Amino acid sequence: MNREETPREGQVWEGWLTGNSALLEEINASVRFDHRLAQQDLDGSVAHARMLAGSGVISSAESELIVSGLERIRGEIEAGEFTFDPALEDVHMNVEARLRELIGPVAGRLHTARSRNDQVAVDARLWVRDAIGRLDALLGRVIDVIAERAEVHHADVMPGFTHLQCAQPVTIGHHLLAYGEMFLRDRDRLRCARLRLDESPLGAAALAGTGYPIDPYDTARRLGFGGVTRNSLDAVSDRDFVLDYLSAGATLAVHISRLGEEMVIWSTPQFGFIALPEDLCAGSSIMPQKRNPDLPELMRAKSGRIFGDLMALLTVMKGLPLAYSRDMQEDKEALFDAADNLEVGVRAAEAMLRGITFRPEKTRADAALGNTVATDVADWLVAGQGLPFREAHSVVAGLVKWLGVQGRELKDSSPAELGDFDARLRPMPPEVLTVENAVARRTSPGGTSPELVRKAAVELRGRNAESN
Ligand code: ARG
Repeated sequence: MNREETPREGQVWEGWLTGNSALLEEINASVRFDHRLAQQDLDGSVAHARMLAGSGVISSAESELIVSGLERIRGEIEAGEFTFDPALEDVHMNVEARLRELIGPVAGRLHTARSRNDQVAVDARLWVRDAIGRLDALLGRVIDVIAERAEVHHADVMPGFTHLQCAQPVTIGHHLLAYGEMFLRDRDRLRCARLRLDESPLGAAALAGTGYPIDPYDTARRLGFGGVTRNSLDAVSDRDFVLDYLSAGATLAVHISRLGEEMVIWSTPQFGFIALPEDLCAGSSIMPQKRNPDLPELMRAKSGRIFGDLMALLTVMKGLPLAYSRDMQEDKEALFDAADNLEVGVRAAEAMLRGITFRPEKTRADAALGNTVATDVADWLVAGQGLPFREAHSVVAGLVKWLGVQGRELKDSSPAELGDFDARLRPMPPEVLTVENAVARRTSPGGTSPELVRKAAVELRGRNAESN
């Protein structure tokens, strides 16, 4: 069949454009993915139809007929009975064509004072708003699990690292709460994105507004928007609300990735800080002993495509003259892909945080490796012997070197022995050399002392609840 020659009935611009090439359909049709906007599209159309009636642009009877047709379409879509036709380009045209089948020519009144440009802008805003709601709720759950687990492990000591080298002891609870702070800020970034998108673009029409006496505040109210966009060109030509979501998502993906990475490392026998939940591990097709951390690995890897989605849309948008260009249709796959993968990534993080078992004996033993109390010895020289910190630092640096030559570390030594290196160390209380002392004395705000960590866990739960 030569489709190039066959004008299709039902296309809205029939009578103007006659060509209908298969290539045009392939590159142009978006319904393959934008059918995911269907519910939002129906919501937008219902609100628009009611507003048109309220403003006297169409009659109440026409509006009711349109709304009942739209609701029937909603039912068909929910029941999986709706067939989306790529020849009708996108979700908007598919819904409108079906409406015409259902209610006849009155369907043609729905698009009064509206263009697909403001229609797709409102649909996308509604979709992003829902996606933010879902992601935010998932994050709230993750933070609750973190608070719970941090409380349990508020006093269990583990190594703290810088450069992935042994640095100073911290507690497991403290380490977990660091992620709690990151995820709480992620919630905040999402909330800001939601605040900024809270304006309805309906009424901007194609780009310049409309001459019909519409009431965009009415549609905005019906759709739960706090306001109305103030410039019709801006309303149809920016997708910064998608970029806000994607960039908040990209930062969140970094956090999930780092947490996944730590779980991968922690679960190796060399670290042995955690045991992975068996039901979330994968095996190997050849090595019978394997329990692989595939799930945290994918938490780490999902970040790649989410950064890609953000980069894709930034690139699509950056050269577009105002107002709408078809390029903007490319926002959707990036948006849907990011939302799907962020949601599964956060759910994976929650499952892992719930499922891992910490090994506090191992983390405590490792916390003492690598002279991690060296700073505490230097601090004691300041407090107990009145040395300036820089001098104390240099004494302990020499001490650690001296021990190393003998194949020893601070954890294998007593103050009396250390006194052989520098007599000023002899009166030091022996507990200065313990990791328990090291964490207990770090009581500065935000520090790792178990008492503070326990309180911080409780506070995190409260702050998380407040951001609901
Ligand atoms: N499917 C289109 C999109 O997502 C809808 C808007 C089409 N507007 C237009 N002027 N062709 O961008």
